[in-house]
Amino acid sequence: MSKIALLGYGVVARGVLEVLAENGALLARRLGAPLEVKSILVRRDFPGDPNAGKFVRDFAGICADPEIEAVVEVMGGEEPAYTYTAAALRAGKHVVTANKQLLAHRGQELLDIAGETGVNYLFEASVGGGIPILRPLRECLSANRVDEVCGILNGTTNYILTEMIQCGTDFSEALSQAQALGYAEADPTADVEGLDAQRKICILADLAFGRNMPPEAVSAQGIRAVSREDVEYAQRLGCVVKLLGRALRLPDGTAAAYVAPHFISKTNLLSHVDGVMNGIVVRGNAVGECLFYGPGAGGRATASAVVSDVVDALLHASRRKDWGWAASGAPEPQSAAAVVSRWFLRTDAGLAPIGAAFGNVQFLSHSGAPAGEYAFLTPPMTETALLARVGDMPLLSRYRVLD
Ligand code: HSE
Repeated sequence: MSKIALLGYGVVARGVLEVLAENGALLARRLGAPLEVKSILVRRDFPGDPNAGKFVRDFAGICADPEIEAVVEVMGGEEPAYTYTAAALRAGKHVVTANKQLLAHRGQELLDIAGETGVNYLFEASVGGGIPILRPLRECLSANRVDEVCGILNGTTNYILTEMIQCGTDFSEALSQAQALGYAEADPTADVEGLDAQRKICILADLAFGRNMPPEAVSAQGIRAVSREDVEYAQRLGCVVKLLGRALRLPDGTAAAYVAPHFISKTNLLSHVDGVMNGIVVRGNAVGECLFYGPGAGGRATASAVVSDVVDALLHASRRKDWGWAASGAPEPQSAAAVVSRWFLRTDAGLAPIGAAFGNVQFLSHSGAPAGEYAFLTPPMTETALLARVGDMPLLSRYRVLD
């Protein structure tokens, strides 16, 4: 019998219990022994809950229990998750997590501790929900120099944008639906403001480039400012509005990462990633582009990745994974302002300032646009160059355009 503990009893923890109950026999065959959740660390009461017999309030008991081989941290947040994870790793227990906030900020420290004690710290569920992406990126694509990772990394915002675009649902109604479906973070601000996607692109950049990409180096813009007009202009251009996280190697050998809503051409595969689905394109110098697609949030999808990591950790207990994630080494992170794109701009500044800044641009038509409002595409340029040209011209919206 292999025994594990869960830290937390939210949507993902319940998904883990469901998957273990449903797939217990096949998991036992794969592991060579049944897998049992011995303890669940909870912070409040759940009256009448069928798992009440497993509830504990004291983490120290889990840490000291020699029967517990692996700890599944699905409590989220940085503390006490960091303290508990570090203690469990130091106590010689494998730790499996879905906690992207903790990983993005302190993943490298925790991997170092796991390295010292020779246990696994696995985190496939932290990016892309149920999509296998981290292990393929690190292992199956290890022959490549990865030049770019670009993806729809947040199920909640993709669900909201899809509902707004396809059904005309308003923002708050779509957000409530995403919360009811168990997609959103405990505080959905992290989803809506792009912080959840920021943490995920940091983890992807860490693994793709083998160097720590701190969240502070990654600008994050969410979807609150996406308007119906922007959505309509995107349609006219043959594009859709999607929130993307991108990490890319720049020509000067540095790397940049950022999160922002984009206009994506409908010829781009990512434009067809709708609802709670996530899609991640990895561009390697040998393989070219690979698309990873699947459910990016939700209890059961995330539990699929968590339970698979538990199986991996227990089966390969003595072969600790080296994730190649280091504090330094090329490429050096730099600001996303150096990333070149075409830009969609919408302004009511008037024709003269637009002409002075951008020359002879072709304006996009929109029957509903108020008089004096102009929208157009720029030639490819960095954000730094764009802002220098825009100067103090008031912008109603600006988006990078991805073909
Ligand atoms: N809130 C996250 C999302 C959950 O919507 O993608 C999965 O990480």
